[in-house]
Amino acid sequence: MKVLVVGGGGREHALVRRIAASPLVDAVHAAPGNPGIAAEPKARCHPIGVDALDALVALARDLEIDLTVVGPEAPLVAGLVDRFVAAGLPILGPTAAAAALEGSKAFAKEVMLAAGVPTAEAQVFTALAPALAALAAWPEPQVVVKADGLAAGKGVVVASDHAEAEAALRGLFEGRLGDAGARVLLERFLVGDEVSVIGLCDGERAVLLPAAQDHKRIGEGDTGPNTGGMGTYAPAPVLDAVGLAEVQRRVFEPVLAEMSRRGTPFRGFLFAGLMVGPAGLQVLEFNTRLGDPETQVMLALLAEDPVPAFRAAATGSLGATTLAALPSTHAACVVMAAQGYPDAPRKGDTLTLPEDPGGAVILHAGTRRDADGTLRTDGGRVLGVTATGETLEAALATCYATCARVRFDGRQYRRDIGHRALGGRAVGSTPP
Ligand code: AMP
Ligand code: GLY
Repeated sequence: MKVLVVGGGGREHALVRRIAASPLVDAVHAAPGNPGIAAEPKARCHPIGVDALDALVALARDLEIDLTVVGPEAPLVAGLVDRFVAAGLPILGPTAAAAALEGSKAFAKEVMLAAGVPTAEAQVFTALAPALAALAAWPEPQVVVKADGLAAGKGVVVASDHAEAEAALRGLFEGRLGDAGARVLLERFLVGDEVSVIGLCDGERAVLLPAAQDHKRIGEGDTGPNTGGMGTYAPAPVLDAVGLAEVQRRVFEPVLAEMSRRGTPFRGFLFAGLMVGPAGLQVLEFNTRLGDPETQVMLALLAEDPVPAFRAAATGSLGATTLAALPSTHAACVVMAAQGYPDAPRKGDTLTLPEDPGGAVILHAGTRRDADGTLRTDGGRVLGVTATGETLEAALATCYATCARVRFDGRQYRRDIGHRALGGRAVGSTPP
């Protein structure tokens, strides 16, 4: 098989590595890829952006690609899958109509309500005055304000009081996020443990990957601004096998049935961001793609080659396919970010990687290679250092030993990845 991966971050590097390891696969192409992907055996990068839909169709056709796997959400919402399907090219991902589960939080709520999926109560507004009136009547000081559309992680404000919520509402209706904020949700604030569950879906059924926990805030102890994700670990003990079965039954099955009923069946990766707390299990949001950096740990835990399952999902024929996890294995990913991330990440710092990554895998995210071969930082999240171990602590210790040997000016990473599963312990603060 020849496989094309669309994207160029850490998630896509993890995908390329896992796909390239398949005995079924002769070559993996990436658009645009990154220097880490370019260095993988069997892999080749093509300088085509993820939004260049015509060029991606042409690339897949010219290379006679057998399966395309899409990383990021923007091309899905823009209709990349519809274009591939129309051209008769096999692709794993949702159509634009199905990707609206991520592209519109109001639509996702509507689907969840129709399907009886547990989720926080919300109200949707298209103008400031009624939103402010509803806020004034809001029963609690805390409220979550969400832009309806895609906002690259900047569309959610967890407001601790009404003044903060009002400022967020004004900002959105004044156009802070453009069209993404033309519709706005006010949502009830939930407490509990967040966990990410991703299902590989074929339109009818979902096969769940191991549950992972991300660390969204930049600072240790979950402080400071939100980021795309500073590190992950899996499996997440907050959802055991019984919990995952409940997620399958109460979230994935009803949502897939409802999407089919609407004539827009969901194929591809459906990512449920869940809160597990006193109110039980609740969906915070859907993404219609793999998570970043969730993918890095989820794929590392799979016991078998996932390529047959990817191909089966793309053709609507998962049947009895499973994606079993390696027994007694834990995976962790520590993100190394650039100076100034997340507000204003600096690019262009020289990057020095250890010759021997010491049992970890250094996945590239925001890197570039100059013509003279120099590797430089080129984005907010620069690398994801990933490892497995018999315990979570062992996996983290391997990651951190490697992080300590990666050099670039201004590098920042959290030393406490996995702290919720380790009773607050910060493995990265322990000298190796
Ligand atoms: P979302 O993009 O909807 O996942 O929101 C981003 C982050 O905001 C989530 O990962 C949560 O940490 C937080 N969040 C979103 N919705 C809620 C909610 N209803 N209650 C508490 N926190 C939330
Ligand atoms: N790590 C969260 C996401 O990919 O949306």
